[in-house]
Amino acid sequence: MPINAAFIIGSGTMGRGIAQVAATAGLTTWVFDAKAEQLAGAKADIEKSLSKLVEKGKLDAAKAEAARGNLKTCAKVDDADWSKVGIVIEAIYENFDAKVSLYRDVQSRLTPDAILASNTSSISITKLAAATNRPNKFIGMHFFNPVPLMSLVEVIRGIQTDDATVESIDAMAKRMGKNPLRCNDMPGFVSNRVLMPLINEAAFALMEGVADATNIDEIAKQGCNFPMGPLTLADFIGVDVCLNILEVLHRDLGDPKFRPCPLLRKLVDAGRLGRKTGWGFHQYAK
Ligand code: 3HC
Repeated sequence: MPINAAFIIGSGTMGRGIAQVAATAGLTTWVFDAKAEQLAGAKADIEKSLSKLVEKGKLDAAKAEAARGNLKTCAKVDDADWSKVGIVIEAIYENFDAKVSLYRDVQSRLTPDAILASNTSSISITKLAAATNRPNKFIGMHFFNPVPLMSLVEVIRGIQTDDATVESIDAMAKRMGKNPLRCNDMPGFVSNRVLMPLINEAAFALMEGVADATNIDEIAKQGCNFPMGPLTLADFIGVDVCLNILEVLHRDLGDPKFRPCPLLRKLVDAGRLGRKTGWGFHQYAK
């Protein structure tokens, strides 16, 4: 059965981006967050992004208008019409217990065939699935920041995820204008297992004085044709998020090559988390 309505948990950077692309794809979309201030920020941000995409000719004005109509923010789980919700996509911070507690809150409201998906960047899909009442309908749907501009969705199958769920997610990702690529459930999946060692190594190069942050980024950009240098990208993702993913890779794969660079820890301890705090490896205008 096609999915016509989505419930997005979390209205942070990723949640608001996912809600935007779901609403633009024509799904009735509830974006839930217990923090009213965060929801208001999400709504403003989505509006800004839709307008920008229209202005740049990347989105039809009528489609943007329809997306605005499809999108509903809610501060209470019961504000959604649960008989219509075909998928829940959770996009909160990386904490197993917090995620599971939210799944327990919504799963009793879900119709039997509805899918539970997580945008987790590194927590085991199999482990999250096992804590729910529908491990066969649980899946990883990993989007990339900025969600409206990045085409990939990494589709992660847990050990109990059934074929029908994987196929539904492939179809839904395509409907959202994304390119779904499948992988199995291993720490960091493919994307972060490959990306985080690069960011970590750039941090080691900075710590060891190989070059300053600007030159490390420019050399990577101009020499490897990256759209952003690795340290700029770390600031964009969040230095704390990068550290957290590296800790998971290091712990769960047990390989010293994933040990986080001490400089990442130092920046996190100092509250230099990247763009969101105005300063990470680089400084940003407010
Ligand atoms: N909606 C609409 N427009 C947006 C936007 C959004 N959400 N976010 C940024 N933009 C706009 C900017 O405002 C800017 O507009 P302007 O041209 O009017 O100033 C424009 O996009 C940026 O345009 P640029 O010419 O600078 O850059 P490109 O369009 O060529 O590409 C990019 C932008 C896609 C962000 C590119 O820099 C890029 O690919 N960067 C790397 C991003 C990346 O690697 N993301 C993945 C991170 S890893 C992750 O998310 C996984 C997690 O688990 C860690």
